[in-house]
Amino acid sequence: MMKVYTHKNINQIQKYIPKDCNVFAIIDNKVKDYFREFKNWNFIGIDALENAKTLGTAGDICSRLMEKKADRNCFILGIGGGVTTDLAGFVASVYKRGVKFALVPTTLLSAADAAIGGKNGVNHLGIKNMMGTITQPEWVFQSTEFFRTLDLRVFREGIAEMLKTFLLMDEESFFEGAEFFSHYDHKSPSPTQEQHLRSLVRRCAELKMNLVEKDEFDHGARMFLNLGHTFGHALESYYEGEILHGETVAAGILASARLSVKLGVMEEKTLNLITDCFSACGILFRFGVKATDLVKYIANDKKISGGSIWFILPEEIGTKSEARSIPVPQFKALCKGLVL
Ligand SMILES: NC(=O)c1ccc[n+]([C@@H]2O[C@H](COP(=O)([O-])OP(=O)(O)OC[C@H]3O[C@@H](n4cnc5c(N)ncnc54)[C@H](O)[C@@H]3O)[C@@H](O)[C@H]2O)c1
Repeated sequence: MMKVYTHKNINQIQKYIPKDCNVFAIIDNKVKDYFREFKNWNFIGIDALENAKTLGTAGDICSRLMEKKADRNCFILGIGGGVTTDLAGFVASVYKRGVKFALVPTTLLSAADAAIGGKNGVNHLGIKNMMGTITQPEWVFQSTEFFRTLDLRVFREGIAEMLKTFLLMDEESFFEGAEFFSHYDHKSPSPTQEQHLRSLVRRCAELKMNLVEKDEFDHGARMFLNLGHTFGHALESYYEGEILHGETVAAGILASARLSVKLGVMEEKTLNLITDCFSACGILFRFGVKATDLVKYIANDKKISGGSIWFILPEEIGTKSEARSIPVPQFKALCKGLVL
């Protein structure tokens, strides 16, 4: 399984790069400045837009690798948020039938989640992550140094994904994270706070990796990580990229919790507790979209099989969730009256 290196500063990265390899950094243009001192790397800058996470962009990156004569022994670094790490991982896993790569996530969301677990890919015809591979990077390098330049909205996307992981697997971290983020100013944190953030991000990544180790190719346990994503991806398709992934996931988690209450899986008081924690962390989003209007997007979801939809229903914070196969007509009925 891949390794995760967590450091305060990015200058530590050099020691993990294999010797005698040409490094090709597929990098989000917004974070290029952080890497000015790495003069011996070849940089391929991209504008990290969700609607550019496509086969076309992946093809362009491959063309640029060919122009720069990247051979099978090259080492690819994917540096940026989830859009960049998903694209770079995809390119690395198909370029010349696969070359070694590592990821350097620069958003909270990608450090705690997107860069972890080997899933990469591109969107197609407006559907999220329709094509991709599951290929593990050699390592992931986490540093909180990057997060200070994130927009607040983007930082909060990461909070949503982290609370999702903790909600599924670690009660103590869920409440610790909710308390921490309710007071955290990501633009000017104290060194102690930043250290605390590093430990939370690392813990979150480790929880995800433990699950991925049990089910790397997503045939069972890993599906729990989809909590909130069925509604989330549908909302993203509905808005055609106007709202951010983490925002839709946050709304999707609460909608799933409300379905859980409807089905008698979760107690109302647990739903209220989760809602309060999301609100304190600034990730309580209300879009005013009827769940019934999202069903047509859900029909394209990879989690639909045999006329039923695999849905993750949270039950107790950090300890219990259920994966339930719900026939589409029943799902539609349950969606009535649910507004995201
Ligand atoms: N592979 C997986 O398992 C997985 C899991 C979750 C999400 N994802 C994917 O991740 C993507 C969302 O990731 P994201 O939220 O990181 O999006 P992103 O890559 O679009 O980054 C968000 C914004 O922040 C900017 N940015 C990145 N780093 C910055 C920095 N340090 N300072 C300032 N600006 C910076 C980017 O340019 C972009 O504008 C989606 O495409 C989603 O599908 C993948």
